Amino acid sequence: MSKERIGIITGGGDAPGLNAVIEGLVRGLHKNFEIVGINDGFEGVFKKQHKILTLQDVYAVHSQAGTLLGTSNKSQIEGRVKEFLNNIKAMNLKGLIAIGGDGTFAALKMVSEIPLIGIPKTIDNDLSGTELTFGFDTACGVVADNADALRFTADAHKRVFVVETMGRTAGWIALGGGLASIADAILIPEREYTRETLADFIKEKRSSERRGLVIVVAEGAKFLGEEITVIKKQPKTAHKVRYGGFAQVVSDWIEQELDWESRFVILGHLQRSHQPSNTDRLLSLTMAKEACRLVSEGKWGRAVVYRSGQVQEAPIADVMRAPRLVPKDHQWIATAQKLGIFI
Ligand code: F6P
Repeated sequence: MSKERIGIITGGGDAPGLNAVIEGLVRGLHKNFEIVGINDGFEGVFKKQHKILTLQDVYAVHSQAGTLLGTSNKSQIEGRVKEFLNNIKAMNLKGLIAIGGDGTFAALKMVSEIPLIGIPKTIDNDLSGTELTFGFDTACGVVADNADALRFTADAHKRVFVVETMGRTAGWIALGGGLASIADAILIPEREYTRETLADFIKEKRSSERRGLVIVVAEGAKFLGEEITVIKKQPKTAHKVRYGGFAQVVSDWIEQELDWESRFVILGHLQRSHQPSNTDRLLSLTMAKEACRLVSEGKWGRAVVYRSGQVQEAPIADVMRAPRLVPKDHQWIATAQKLGIFI
């Protein structure tokens, strides 16, 4: 008798740990199921591009960034729900495991007939329903390593370096990476700053004869009363507004108004393209294990989440809500303040 088939799809921006999830799922399910990997996210459903994943296909991919299935930010599902459902039906799947972020889950709401298990992923760490997403720890590591490194150049040249992180409307990456590197200042969207308060802080640092400064800013941060810096508007993509450029705004202002030479560095996609950290691997593999349990128990309509130090199951609707921002009373903010960081 032929085995029942389980589909796997990865959607949205890649995040370190995706391949570890895929390897974990195939290892955990291959004995009882045939695993169908859909290529390039939703695009693969519409183009009918998928492949059977064997143990050999996924062997040792856990340590690699990216996703061996490919991914895409465009859901393309609007107005094409019927076609999507028909194509999924033609794959003869018992159910689908979707590893994705807000865009993926928002799109999947439109096709609720499909038996689904959700595994949340994003480097931004801002998905609802889970306290941690894989990819975040690796991204913070990239920020911390680079902020630490830039401190030497900042001090050598007596400059202020402004380092920009990803994260969209959430400040998790800037906070996590900035705190880990004890940056001088961290600007995140969840907190309010005026140019005046930051200027006072910078002037005080200069009068204390600090040679250089490192300031970590989230791409979604802004000064009070000002707009978020936008690089491009892309109405046809999942991220209709592409954030970025705030580091340059801050750096130019420091140089012009505060007369302290400054440079900016935008870390960009380097935050997504590194090998997963150990923490991200453990989280990904444990999430895969939990998803395998849900499949074998036939528990569709569930998501795998991380809460109170445990990987566990929750209703899939939990990961489909509004982004989870940094709470005002988060411990890391208090820690940063105690360390003398401007935040
Ligand atoms: O959501 C993940 C993320 O990396 C954001 O932090 C960032 O703003 C965005 O994706 C970048 O998307 P793209 O890869 O489409 O440029």
